[in-house]
Amino acid sequence: MNRGSARPVAAPGGGLAGARHVAIIMDGNGRWAKARHLPRVAGHRQGMEAVRRTIRAAGELGIEALTLYAFSSENWRRPADEISDLMGLLRLYLQREIDELDRNGVRLRLIGDYGKFAPDLVAQLEAACARTAGNTGLTVALALNYGGQDELVRVARQLAEAARAGSLDPADIDVDLFDECLDTAGLPPLDLMIRTSGESRLSNFLLWQAAYAELLFTDTLWPDFDRAALEGALADFGRRERRFGGR
Ligand code: FPP
Repeated sequence: MNRGSARPVAAPGGGLAGARHVAIIMDGNGRWAKARHLPRVAGHRQGMEAVRRTIRAAGELGIEALTLYAFSSENWRRPADEISDLMGLLRLYLQREIDELDRNGVRLRLIGDYGKFAPDLVAQLEAACARTAGNTGLTVALALNYGGQDELVRVARQLAEAARAGSLDPADIDVDLFDECLDTAGLPPLDLMIRTSGESRLSNFLLWQAAYAELLFTDTLWPDFDRAALEGALADFGRRERRFGGR
């Protein structure tokens, strides 16, 4: 891997307003459903449609990487039937969308400890990644059983084990090496983190990667998110002055 690739670069890259890597905390499915007196799963279903729209728009707008918080390591605390609904939607999404994703040159990646999911779903996810691995368009990273603290703990453990085995000098641990050990290794630096539904928290998403990201909180509920909302977010990003700690 290019050891310098994770360093923030102020010059604009691809995308409408220079955002190369956008991450989204897709929040508000439940409130969208509640406002319509529908079951929560209806909100998640519409959330899946918003995922389709947003991936298509992101590819068309020239974004290089889109990371979506699809299931957090804390989401296991939800009722079993809701977890099962979310897993079912993920299966359905992959079945329905893989052909179009592949046709559009999307490369699918996974971040998080997704190996804890059901074996058939893990196999389906890995098959989708393998099928699209050679594509050169938008990279879509699905965060599944992902938690930023968990990711950092896994990196620390990996480095500590290498040091104990004698293959790593602790003095050689630096930001670049850490970057290479993260689930997001090889993706462009995170430029923009969007959270929908009016909450202003990171909720354990991409804690390391968000160090210099611009944060954008919108009241739009995730099921209502669309191309215009993404364009608006990119336009907002384009107006921000990024200094990366400089003046
Ligand atoms: C938050 O809404 C959203 C999630 C817990 C997960 C996101 C899931 C999807 C967008 C559906 C399917 C995804 C894929 C990739 C096929 P919430 O339930 O926390 O909403 P609330 O805060 O209004 O209750």
